Amino acid sequence: MRLLPAATALLSALLLPLSAAYNKTACNNSPSLCNATYSDILHLGAHNVAFVRTAANGWSEGGNQYFNATVALSAGVRLLQSQLHVDNGSVKLCHTTCDILDGGLLKDWLSGINTWLSTRPSEVVTILLVNDDKISAETIGGIFTAAGLDTLAYVPDGTGWPTLQAMIDKKKQVVAFLSNAADTSKVPYLLPEWNYIFETDFEVSDPANYTCYATRPSAVAGKDKLSTAVASGRMGFMNRFLYDQISTTLKLYVPNSTYAAALNGNSGVGNLKDGVAQCSQQWGRQGGFALLDFVNVGTPMDIVDAHNNVTNPENREAFPPNPKDAFSSNKNIYKNGGMAQIRRLAAQVKSGQTVKKSLFIIGAGSWMGTFNIGSV
Ligand SMILES: *[C@@H]1O[C@H](CO)[C@@H](O)[C@H](O)[C@H]1NC(C)=O
Ligand SMILES: *[C@@H]1O[C@H](CO)[C@@H](O)[C@H](O)[C@H]1NC(C)=O
Ligand SMILES: *[C@@H]1O[C@H](CO)[C@@H](O)[C@H](O)[C@H]1NC(C)=O
Ligand SMILES: *[C@@H]1O[C@H](CO)[C@@H](O)[C@H](O)[C@H]1NC(C)=O
Ligand SMILES: *[C@@H]1O[C@H](CO)[C@@H](O)[C@H](O)[C@H]1NC(C)=O
Ligand SMILES: *[C@@H]1O[C@H](CO)[C@@H](O)[C@H](O)[C@H]1NC(C)=O
Ligand SMILES: *[C@@H]1O[C@H](CO)[C@@H](O)[C@H](O)[C@H]1NC(C)=O
Repeated sequence: MRLLPAATALLSALLLPLSAAYNKTACNNSPSLCNATYSDILHLGAHNVAFVRTAANGWSEGGNQYFNATVALSAGVRLLQSQLHVDNGSVKLCHTTCDILDGGLLKDWLSGINTWLSTRPSEVVTILLVNDDKISAETIGGIFTAAGLDTLAYVPDGTGWPTLQAMIDKKKQVVAFLSNAADTSKVPYLLPEWNYIFETDFEVSDPANYTCYATRPSAVAGKDKLSTAVASGRMGFMNRFLYDQISTTLKLYVPNSTYAAALNGNSGVGNLKDGVAQCSQQWGRQGGFALLDFVNVGTPMDIVDAHNNVTNPENREAFPPNPKDAFSSNKNIYKNGGMAQIRRLAAQVKSGQTVKKSLFIIGAGSWMGTFNIGSV
């Protein structure tokens, strides 16, 4: 069928997404945050955001989210946290190992964030990379450069955190932290996390057990050192995700998805609203970070907006419906990811490699319900 030019134009206009034009008067979705310092704002975070449960990976138990980083950013998440590992010579985002959940190359992930920022000049995004493999700052910095994020990354000048507007005016839209192996003499913008942040416990498996004191870094860890942690000027960081301990003997944990709505909501034991209020009261300050699993579930953005005094947020696109919901009663979800992971691990055993039992169990995670393996 041949359409008249005018009709074609009309049709493409109708097919465009109905999102409003980008409004530069807002900073991180609100004009009221432009004059706030970075450290006075509570930043909503997505834990292990590169590890996404999808139909293709059988809703892998190794996944902590249902949506990827850029979808989360569009919905208002401003802290992206994930793990780095070296796999076959490449720096990748993988959950403990790439056999459990392979989130792809760091370069591709950072490039996606750069693309997202390129059309959104008034957003400031924090990236926290957990670097247990101690990959060198220079290697990681090389990847930031390749992805075009090096020039956007903020370097502190020693006078305290600036306002969002000051960062935006200087086109410094990224704050990047490394948990390990930062070396600011080599890469000034890859900041050593523990100089700037204290974190609450990250291995909570009972929602009654969240607390606000530091468990890391060790210099300020413990209930009795909370005032030291706060006085040190480090920003407080609430780990608010929940694990199921599926084996006490193996100390094996998987993310608890069934309790996410309560946890990321306003009521119920361990809920985010009360947790945020409690920590900001104990810290004597409003700013910090809250890191969540399944950040599209519950109402965490509303809770964080209210805490930041944000009303009528600009430049937001709410999360789409949870893709998992459409699969809740479909047994075929087990046919891909879990099995692929088991096959890979089995191949490793055949080739004479030693495979940790824990990896096999997590790889097989989505089969557990099916076979009712129970506790191991
Ligand atoms: C941009 O945001 C400001 C503050 O919320 C609002 O007053 C203004 O109308 C918005 N502009 C557009 C074009 O939406
Ligand atoms: C932010 O601060 C500047 C300079 O002090 C002031 O001109 C501006 O009105 C403030 N903006 C808001 C939204 O409060
Ligand atoms: C590892 O990397 C090499 C070189 O890029 C490639 O040829 C090989 O296929 C990779 N192996 C695996 C298992 O991905
Ligand atoms: C993130 O997910 C969205 C929606 O599924 C998709 O369109 C986009 O390509 C994904 N982005 C990346 C970097 O994978
Ligand atoms: C929760 O905290 C209580 C009191 O500190 C402790 O006895 C219990 O073992 C904790 N539960 C878990 C699952 O860690
Ligand atoms: C998830 O956590 C809730 C609250 O502690 C608990 O009732 C539920 O059994 C947990 N889910 C699984 C699958 O263990
Ligand atoms: C929100 O309001 C409270 C109470 O007035 C204030 O202490 C806090 O700094 C405000 N937060 C931001 C991000 O402006």
